[in-house]
Amino acid sequence: MNAPVRFQALTVSGLAISAGMTTIVSDVAFTLAQGRPVTLLGASGSGKSLVAHAIMGSLPTGLSARGVITLDGQDLLAGTPAQTRARWGRTIAILPQEPWLALDPTMRIAGQVGEVHQYLHGLGLAEAGARMRADLAEVGLGDRTQAYPHELSGGMCQRAAIAVTHAAGASLLIADEPTKGLDAALRDGVVERLRREVEQGRLLLTITHDIEVAAALGGMVGVMHDGALVEFGPAEQVLAEPRHDYARALIAADPAKWSTSPLPPAGEPVVSASGLSKGFGEKTLFDCLSISVKRGEIVAIVGPSGCGKTTVGNILLGLVAPDQGEVERAAGGS
Ligand SMILES: Nc1ncnc2c1ncn2[C@@H]1O[C@H](COP(=O)(O)OP(=O)(O)OP(=O)(O)O)[C@@H](O)[C@H]1O
Ligand SMILES: [Mg+2]
Repeated sequence: MNAPVRFQALTVSGLAISAGMTTIVSDVAFTLAQGRPVTLLGASGSGKSLVAHAIMGSLPTGLSARGVITLDGQDLLAGTPAQTRARWGRTIAILPQEPWLALDPTMRIAGQVGEVHQYLHGLGLAEAGARMRADLAEVGLGDRTQAYPHELSGGMCQRAAIAVTHAAGASLLIADEPTKGLDAALRDGVVERLRREVEQGRLLLTITHDIEVAAALGGMVGVMHDGALVEFGPAEQVLAEPRHDYARALIAADPAKWSTSPLPPAGEPVVSASGLSKGFGEKTLFDCLSISVKRGEIVAIVGPSGCGKTTVGNILLGLVAPDQGEVERAAGGS
């Protein structure tokens, strides 16, 4: 019963977003087709969320969009504010970057999902309740239906917001940083949920900093830099062989691509320091301190507040230089 209308494609061409005379985003063009989700990557401030809001028709006051954005041929930028608002939730839904912005803080999540079934889809109370319970169970919140948003963690709020969006059944779903702050297991759960939305025929635009999320969603990947879409292509190609310099640097910076240092053999030191002394101003924190941490060993430093515990750790990590003494790290760890 959720949204029988399924759109085939969203096309963005020549999109520019300005604040008065200042252009913030320019020349953004891509097509998002059924079964081929689009994921936008890019540094903070590169314009990803503004592109999402331009499509939604919810740009902040003072910002305006030019260009053409069509959903199966219908120009989204050309309509009146009333036509734009009529699409919200029903045709296009956005999961905002902060999940609690999508939820009503004064209402239990059961009510927030249930009222979508009741008022948007016109179901009776009993059926709306049953659908609400199914939607919340599907995102792992079946036992928390009576909670208010402030009683839930950020990840739970994110999942509750996904349940509301799913209930609305919009054809085009825009997820802005849907896995922000989630641990790996919850992140995978959200990605799986989004993939299912794609399988059900929804158009999905995701914005993320997480390259693993982009890889898991597949489809097409775009990279934004300084307000421009500098690269766009199939996920496997962009993530494996990015062409643009910035896209290459961004993808190479993924922690999953960092080289790992070989560990020393068991029982050998990973880091050892001798004759360390350190002071700040007049105060000497420690003198002639020697410490070593061997592979597999747990070393604790205990002492009163201000005695220099963190400073020892920072010296071992190479973040702070000792006044005297030497630090040796196992190969690859320096
Ligand atoms: N209401 C506004 N008025 C003027 N400039 C704005 C406004 N909102 C955003 N900007 C500017 O537009 C640029 C792009 O912002 P946007 O929120 O799209 O970045 P983003 O890529 O989503 O970043 P993040 O990854 O941090 O969410 C930024 O330089 C930001 O300062
Ligand atoms: Mg953003």
